[in-house]
Amino acid sequence: AETLKVGVAGLGTVGASVLRLLAKHGDQIARSTGRSVSVTAVSARDRNKDRGFDVSGFEWFTDPVEMAEKGDIDVFVELIGGDSGPAEDSVRAALARGIHVVTANKALLARHGVALAEIAEANGACLNYEAAVAGGIPIVKTLRESMSGNGISRVYGILNGTCNYILTRMEAEGISFEDCLSDAQRLGYAEADPTFDIEGNDTAHKLVILTSLAFGTRIASDDIYLEGITSITTADIQAADELGYRIKLLGVAQQTETGIEQRVHPTMVPKNSAIAQVDGVLNAVAVDGDFVGEIVLAGPGAGGDATASAVVADVADVARGDRTPVLGMLAVDLKDYQRARMRLH
Ligand code: HSE
Repeated sequence: AETLKVGVAGLGTVGASVLRLLAKHGDQIARSTGRSVSVTAVSARDRNKDRGFDVSGFEWFTDPVEMAEKGDIDVFVELIGGDSGPAEDSVRAALARGIHVVTANKALLARHGVALAEIAEANGACLNYEAAVAGGIPIVKTLRESMSGNGISRVYGILNGTCNYILTRMEAEGISFEDCLSDAQRLGYAEADPTFDIEGNDTAHKLVILTSLAFGTRIASDDIYLEGITSITTADIQAADELGYRIKLLGVAQQTETGIEQRVHPTMVPKNSAIAQVDGVLNAVAVDGDFVGEIVLAGPGAGGDATASAVVADVADVARGDRTPVLGMLAVDLKDYQRARMRLH
């Protein structure tokens, strides 16, 4: 088969790791998919910025929309970020042209997932987003493929690496919230605007994607309850510790008698529970399926290399010819969620 040509939009932490991964493991991917994969085009704002690698071998686009519209590519990898602007415009442009899209952008999907899925399906394009939820953990594939024969009653977990990193270090080392946050930023875990991490928005973005995958239905419940970790102090953590608990920021979606309930808030979890063992930048997701029982996946939830692992797995799915329907899996009506966010901020 012909080489699958990939355009990467956004050369930050994740974009750089995607290029490195494909350079290192391209042969292995070609063996496992039956098709070689090659990055042919890249897009970023500043061509001359020192990134520690050479971009001269790629077709260069300063404007990602132009790459989406004119680039000689089969797959558009969106790593720009943001729920509108260039990320949205370029993804729409690529899908409208029938170019497959791989994105790590949970904010974009949380806001425009249904509309984008419709464009993808109308044009026979894939819209793959494994990296958008829980970084390197393959939870999207797990829900979409491995658990497709289950009725799901609940999905919950630690979905933000930055918050878990902060809470872990505040507890273990007594370091201040602010110092932990700046370390998380330095390590490339945090969002461009870290208030999205610490106020719980990022967890909410990921949770609504999980909800749509788990329940395959439009959300008919009340608003998401949304509370971040900014008011947690080391004294709170110590008090929880004395009672036998640890504090984790959880996102929870569950079937109740009145509909699907979604909430994000700091939670006291018993020290001997599986979720309490998940430290640092790790995430964990638990899913209750009626036939399989409870599945728990844990692993790196943020960081360039871990996220690149999920991005490239999605590119490999395209190379393999996987054409999973998109819309059925992204049918969440997010109006309630948007309202909750406006009310709480
Ligand atoms: N800022 C996010 C986190 C990155 O800390 O989990 C991964 O989505």
